[in-house]
Amino acid sequence: MSRYIIGIESSCDDTSVGIVSDSLDVVSLKTVSQTSIHKLFGGVIPEIAARNHIAWIFPAIHRTMIESGLTRNDISAVAVTGYPGLVGSLLVGVAAAKGLAIGWNKPLIAVDHLDAHISSAFIGKKKKPEFPYLALVISGGHTSLIEVSEKGRNTLGETIDDAAGEAYDKVAKMAGLGFPGGPVIDKAAQSGDPKKYDLPYLLKHPRYSDETVFSFSGIKSAVKRVLDEQDVDISSLMAAFQDRVMELVERKIKLALSMKKYEALIISGGVSANTKLREIASVVSKQHEIELFLPDLQYCQDNGAMVAAAAFEDLQAGRFSDIDMDVAPTSRTKQ
Ligand code: KG4
Ligand code: ZN
Repeated sequence: MSRYIIGIESSCDDTSVGIVSDSLDVVSLKTVSQTSIHKLFGGVIPEIAARNHIAWIFPAIHRTMIESGLTRNDISAVAVTGYPGLVGSLLVGVAAAKGLAIGWNKPLIAVDHLDAHISSAFIGKKKKPEFPYLALVISGGHTSLIEVSEKGRNTLGETIDDAAGEAYDKVAKMAGLGFPGGPVIDKAAQSGDPKKYDLPYLLKHPRYSDETVFSFSGIKSAVKRVLDEQDVDISSLMAAFQDRVMELVERKIKLALSMKKYEALIISGGVSANTKLREIASVVSKQHEIELFLPDLQYCQDNGAMVAAAAFEDLQAGRFSDIDMDVAPTSRTKQ
């Protein structure tokens, strides 16, 4: 008989609830996007995000349960993103999850957002990768290269300033393209000429040549300098920006793959929906003869299904959270 976990995600601005089976197939998923609200401000306003989670979290739980055709008796555990994220937003999801766990008498499993993004790449796939594997979590909040082994996660390198998605969002805002920036820049870049603007290559200093770190703040300033000129071809400027961002991402993935033998490459997080990144991932994985796991497009952005998917390991290991657990703005590496 299949086991099911209900997963709740509210770490940023998406209110999302998903039910996933132990074969990591999604039974039902409801995501309420707040993009149309935060768009008015050009970015996520934490207080507004938290208040909207309060309004949507229980309707989302209710709809997900109804659409699944399951009852509470079929649910083995309640999973929720506990860290890292916007504290006010996390609190709403965790409070709702605690209420469900108590009311339904189910174990509570707090999931780390990075583990959830990594697990999103395994949803609907026939198998999970062998250890150790290399994971790139690339989103609005993170750009981290992580080694995952039996012992858990080990961060090899991360951004020293902005996250990649954050850079997309800020550059799109500067260029007047709206929010979130990733999808609009991805689309604009497709009709532009990346060679038209000679933007600098990122992290070219020899000091960083053998480190798996990222940096995206310099490229923002370079884009700003071009935008200050007149008659800018926005599509070509966005193509050049994307080219440099992805060149760095490709270089660092290759560096990590050259340092150790991995069984698979996983790329997940909001930016993993990017067309150019997906092309690069496919080429690099073939060159290095390594299996590639990318989330299906609907699981790239924050969602409750990936939270439930990540919690199955904890369910199997009997690793549950205290009902008085606290949220945290920083990541918690699994022991
Ligand atoms: O994972 P996610 O939903 O939330 C965080 O945990 O941050 O990622 C959202 C980020 C945003 O910065 C958004 O601009 C970016 O993912 N994004 C993209 C694309 N689609 C979404 N970035 C580049 N290309 C895309 N196609
Ligand atoms: Zn995320």
